This record gives sequence, structure tokens and C-alpha cells, in this order.
Amino acid sequence: MKNINPTQTTAWKKLEKHFSQVEQVKLKELFEKDSERASEFSIAWEDFYLDYSKNRITAETRDLLLELAEDCDLTAAINSYFGGDAINRTENRAVLHTALRAPADVNIEVDNQNVVPEVQEVKRKISNFSEKIISGEKKGYTGKAFTDIVNIGIGGSDLGPVMVTESLKYYHNHLKVHYVSNVDGDHVYETIKNLNPETTLFLVVSKTFTTQETLSNATTIRNWFRKTAPKDAVSKHFVAVSTNLKKVEEFGIAIENVFPMWDWVGGRFSLWSAVGLSISLAVGYNNFEALLKGAHKMDEHFRTSDFKENIPVQLALLSIWYNNFYRAESEAVIPYTQYLNRLPAYLQQAIMESNGKSVDRNGKKVDYQTGTLIWGEPGTNSQHAFFQLIHQGTKLIPADFIGFKESLHQDNDHHNKLMANFFAQTEALLQGKSKEEVKKELEAQGLSTDEIEQLVPFKEFEGNKPTNTLLIDKLTPESLGKIIAMYEHKIFVQGVIWNIYSYDQWGVELGKQLASKILAEIEDKSVKNHDSSTKKLLEVFFK
Ligand code: F6P
Repeated sequence: MKNINPTQTTAWKKLEKHFSQVEQVKLKELFEKDSERASEFSIAWEDFYLDYSKNRITAETRDLLLELAEDCDLTAAINSYFGGDAINRTENRAVLHTALRAPADVNIEVDNQNVVPEVQEVKRKISNFSEKIISGEKKGYTGKAFTDIVNIGIGGSDLGPVMVTESLKYYHNHLKVHYVSNVDGDHVYETIKNLNPETTLFLVVSKTFTTQETLSNATTIRNWFRKTAPKDAVSKHFVAVSTNLKKVEEFGIAIENVFPMWDWVGGRFSLWSAVGLSISLAVGYNNFEALLKGAHKMDEHFRTSDFKENIPVQLALLSIWYNNFYRAESEAVIPYTQYLNRLPAYLQQAIMESNGKSVDRNGKKVDYQTGTLIWGEPGTNSQHAFFQLIHQGTKLIPADFIGFKESLHQDNDHHNKLMANFFAQTEALLQGKSKEEVKKELEAQGLSTDEIEQLVPFKEFEGNKPTNTLLIDKLTPESLGKIIAMYEHKIFVQGVIWNIYSYDQWGVELGKQLASKILAEIEDKSVKNHDSSTKKLLEVFFK
């Protein structure tokens, strides 16, 4: 990929000038001026309708942002990404989670070798295995069918599968799926306390198979299992997903129980691989395949659509507009379905581990902002939690609202109320409430002039808060696949424009190294060299 400082491009300079002219723009006025604004700033694609008209942009802003994408050579970058170039330079790896959802007949090469046949082989293995566990054909060591699945993993080996499993709860079969991630022993003991080892299957998921949390939890669970089960029962109850066959064998899991993955799949983008085995077990392989199909459709949309009509590109450019010009620090994602309650947590890893970088592709410190903070909770719960700050606080927080035309349990009364809130919130964020409106309301309530004067400043809403609205027909495995892939590509586009490496995560290493040093000190109860704060804290901990 080309190494381009975005702030040195012509488009960026034009954007800076343009920003000084439109910074104070009022969304309300933009809507008043242009009756076609909603259609002009929207993209209808398959079962998705993205309305991005409630953003502080004009047609010129969009043109300049599109020019920025061109100046940063986004087209060539997309070709490198899908073509299997080693775009993860600092680890010298390709970034090919898109190959995991590609059709069987395409050719995608890494080091001159087509990887698609291997991917298909692992998919067949996932499908056969899922089928046998779900049907009860494959049984535990006492001949009973499995009832529970425990996924042991962390980060990308946990968050993606948890989020999807939770999102597709409506499509679940009889298997109960649990996730253990935290090295906090209370997490693992709480999870296993009511499980029956005879009917529980354990998936140890770790790309590297060196992750402290996962190995500790897997060891604890294996010891617990062996308390009641014979030694050779482990092979019936433990499977692994990893690239590190040697370590898996050392742990005691037989090679035939390993689902391979590849180093060209980043951890946080790996739910499409065997890392998603728990998903396939929970909802059946056909639904897992539908998830992949949705993601592939989004891949094609992203790869082939004109940037103006391209959902991930537009979302990424808007995010850059707020992050780099308005200096917004965070973005909220508010799904209006309880099923997507883990989406923000999943996106935190995907977005912040990818684009939380301050060094550009030259190895030089950037002098512009990169990765956004991402947070959110489902609506309507979030309305009763943090919406106050979005409406009347001092910070600018662009937000994505994701809603569905149809509810899964088909209760229209609930769904109408939910969606009324969905539409009302973005409208309220756009319109606000003027002093005059507040005054009129208070007059109608019979308040005195003095009381009105006192209350008006507190009850006024500035409005002018930007939102994207993504309206989707229905939450299905396929539409979920599209949503996830949409954010994956948004991350990619932002990384390209910010000229950073989005696919490494060196920033998590230092904490790991220090933790292993401190663990030795805790075990010996001897405090070594630290800053005085850490030293004191350890001493208090030992008392
Ligand atoms: O958080 C760092 C990280 O390396 C993530 O990128 C990864 O998803 C997670 O740890 C788990 O890694 P592994 O699958 O190798 O156990």
C-alpha cells in the first residue's frame, strides 16, 4: 500500500478550508434548504437502507471526502487487501478474513498458493462436527449426548463468537453455549459450577495457544473435568481451534480434534473461521454459512461499488470528518434490538485494537488524530442511561443507530414502541428544542414569566447532533454478517486514510510482559523495582 500522509494531500487542504466555512452549519437549515436531502444522502442496498443525511455535511463535504479517499489511493489499497498482499507489514502477513467467506470456486493466493480449498476443508469439518454434536450422534464419555458447550478464549477468540451467538439467540437450538474469557477465576468457576462434565463439550480457542488467560482457564477446566472423568475422556470432550498445533498437542488435545486456522486471519476478524465453531454449534451450520454469505455480499458491495454508493466507505469518511475536523473523540453505536447488545463490545476490540495507533506507515509519529473511541448499548435502555449527555452535554458524539423493520417475535405493539423511539431519537438529536418552543410549552403549563425565564436554559436542546441511521429488514444470520463486515471494512478504510497499520496490536504486549514479571513477585511475595505507586500497591496487596 502507498504511504501517503493524509494531511499533505490536496483534498485534506481543501477539506480544512471547507471546514472553516461549514463548521457552524446547522442541520436544520440544511434540511430546510433542500427537500431532497434525505434521498440525496442515503444508500439503499439489498435489505439495508443507510440514511446519512443527518450529518453536518454538504454535497461539497462529501465530494471532498471522496477526493480524500482517491488521494490516499483507496482503490489500490482495496485491491491489495482482497488480493492477499502482506498489508499487515509489521507482522508480514496478508489480511484475508474475506477469503473465509469467499465462494469455493475463487482463487485467493497467499505465497502463490490458493487458500480457498483449505478454507473449504475446514468448513466441511465445522459442518460435520456441528451436525454430529447437535444431532447427538457424537456423545460424551458416558454415552450421553452433549447439552452444553463452553468456549474458552479471549479477545478475538471470544468477543466475535459471543457477540454473534448472543445476536442470533432467536435461531438457537437446544445446546446451551457458555463463554469463559477472563483470567479471573470467578468467571470460570461460576461458569462450570452447574455444568455436568458428562454432557459438556469444551472448545479451547486460541490462535497462538500461548494466551495466559485461555491456557489458565483451559487448564482449570481440564483439571475439574478429570476429577470425575477418566483420563482418556479428554479426547471426547476437548477440541481446539488454533494455528499452533505443537502447543495444542502439549496441552493434551489430539490432533484430530484440532480445527486449524491461519496466520493471515487476524484474531479480531476470525469469527468467520473455526473460531466461530461455537456459533455453528449454537445455530447450526446452515445459519453459520448464511452469516458468511451475508459478509461476502458486503465484501462484494465494498469491493465493487462506486465510493459514493459504498456503505463502508461513506461511514469511514464521515467518521474521519468528525474525528479529524470536528475533533470528536468518540462514536456511539446504538442498536435498537436487545439481541445486538454485545455489538459495541465486539466493535471496541475490532475498531480500537485496529486503529488505536499513533505511528504512521513510515514509523513516524502522526500529527493528526487516528482511532476513535467506540461505545454504546442497545436502545431504548441507553436512552435512560447516557442519552442525556449526547443531547445536552458539551461533547460531540456522532452515533450510528441500527434498527430493523421487523421484529423476530413479531409483537407489533412492542416493535412499534421500540421503533418510535428509534426514529424519535435521531429526529430529536437533529432538531433539538428552541427557547421559543420551551417557552410555549411552559406557558401552556401555566408557569409564571419568572419561572419560565429560570427554566428555559435547562430545557433547551441545541440539536444539530449527527447520526447515521441504518434500517435493515430483519435480524437474520445473513444481515448480521453484512453488519459485521460493514464495520470491518469501515476500519480498513480509516486505517488506509490515516496511513497506519490496522492489523497488528503491539500495544497489548507491554502490559502482558509486566504482568508476568509481577506475577512472579506476587507468587514469591517479594516486591522488586517499580515506581513508588506500584510498589506501595503491591505491599498493601500482600498485607
Ligand atoms: O488482545 C491481544 C490479542 O492478541 C488479540 O488480538 C487476540 O484476539 C487475543 O489476544 C487472543 O489471542 P489468541 O487467540 O492467540 O489467544
